[in-house]
Amino acid sequence: MRNLCIVGLQWGDEGKGKIVDYYADRFHAVVRFNGGSNAGHTIVHNGRTFVFHLLPSGLLKKKRLLIGPGVALDPLTLNEELGMLAKEGGEADLMVDERCTLVTPLEKELDSFIEGLRGAKPIGTTKRGIGPSYAMRALRLTPRAGDLAKGDFDLSSAIAFYRTFLKEIPDLSGWTENSKKILAGRTGDVGGEIMALNDAGHSVMFEGAQGTLLDLIFGTYPFVTGAHTIASYVPAGLGIPNGALGDVMGVAKAYTTRVGGGPFPTEIPGETGEQIRKEGKEYGATTGRPRRVGWLDIVGLKYAVRLNGVSELALTKVDILTKIREMKVCVGYSIDGEETGDFSKALPRLAEAKPVYRTMPSFYGLELRENHLPQAAEQLVEFLEEELKVKVTLVSTGEERSATMQRHA
Ligand code: IMP
Ligand code: MG
Repeated sequence: MRNLCIVGLQWGDEGKGKIVDYYADRFHAVVRFNGGSNAGHTIVHNGRTFVFHLLPSGLLKKKRLLIGPGVALDPLTLNEELGMLAKEGGEADLMVDERCTLVTPLEKELDSFIEGLRGAKPIGTTKRGIGPSYAMRALRLTPRAGDLAKGDFDLSSAIAFYRTFLKEIPDLSGWTENSKKILAGRTGDVGGEIMALNDAGHSVMFEGAQGTLLDLIFGTYPFVTGAHTIASYVPAGLGIPNGALGDVMGVAKAYTTRVGGGPFPTEIPGETGEQIRKEGKEYGATTGRPRRVGWLDIVGLKYAVRLNGVSELALTKVDILTKIREMKVCVGYSIDGEETGDFSKALPRLAEAKPVYRTMPSFYGLELRENHLPQAAEQLVEFLEEELKVKVTLVSTGEERSATMQRHA
């Protein structure tokens, strides 16, 4: 079987964690290739909710877990999650790439400091130090996981840099010792490991964090995350050839959410938005912030399908819309009276874009039974397939693994 990559097609929180957990049985390992503990991957199993930020979502299925060099790694978060897993009676079969850039307490300070400089227009980061960690790697000031494990990285230049603008520099010796212990015996060459698994006939799953529209280059810059979120970052972020990427499954919610600042053309003001937020439990899994809620945006999805080379689609949280009387999807934007269906062209003026909606049959009161999609939902699925030119292979109708409908093999 080929490898499979799962990526978000919106602004994150599409329900990737659930889909990864659902498919994990078919794969030998689950691999994180981007982002860091800014992610919040929620898995509901037997009525219990688990949220992980750093460990790949294959963990409940006891898969081999790999964290690639494209990830900004916070050793303390890693330790917490390993502890959580141990409490559940599981031991992680984990390898962290030695090239992972680290998040030290200083990067978290820098995250807050920079948000403070932005005044009235903060990005609304998760303050997990992710952007700063990548920036410090580009400046070649921060240690990588392997450097720390070997104990041969000198932090003095980084500290001198931070002294130029931070009043207080915390003592990092405790953090360094702890992190060394946490990483001891766990670092290696993740790309090499993936290739060895593939050579032995085992396929792996790549688990994306955040969503396409938060990509550092192709998203709604500057309201984006500090890393790449699209499928083409799998090879680059892991050190494997392009051919090893395999199939790309894009995940989209039946509506849209966004956490933090930035343009959001289909945002729903007032009561309907509030209702979807409540029904969909749309509160940040990492920060607890209420997520902004909007209608499904086909313009954004088309762009995301193109950027990721999506070969199949998973549509999630269809059940939430059965509590909502209205149903709309955005099929274009109007900017200064001119209509466009091209997200890329609209991007520089997205804040002024007025959505052009198409009203669809409401899902209100629909009964979602196993392996049967009611007509209104089927209609949306077919509309998406036609517009996006990809098959919708999975429809998720609830939090539990069992509430997953397979439409095509
Ligand atoms: P950062 O990744 O913490 O730098 O945050 C940058 C932007 O990405 C902010 O708008 C965050 O709310 C958003 N963001 C980061 N991670 C996630 C995620 O996992 N889901 C949704 N939004 C995210
Ligand atoms: Mg999330």
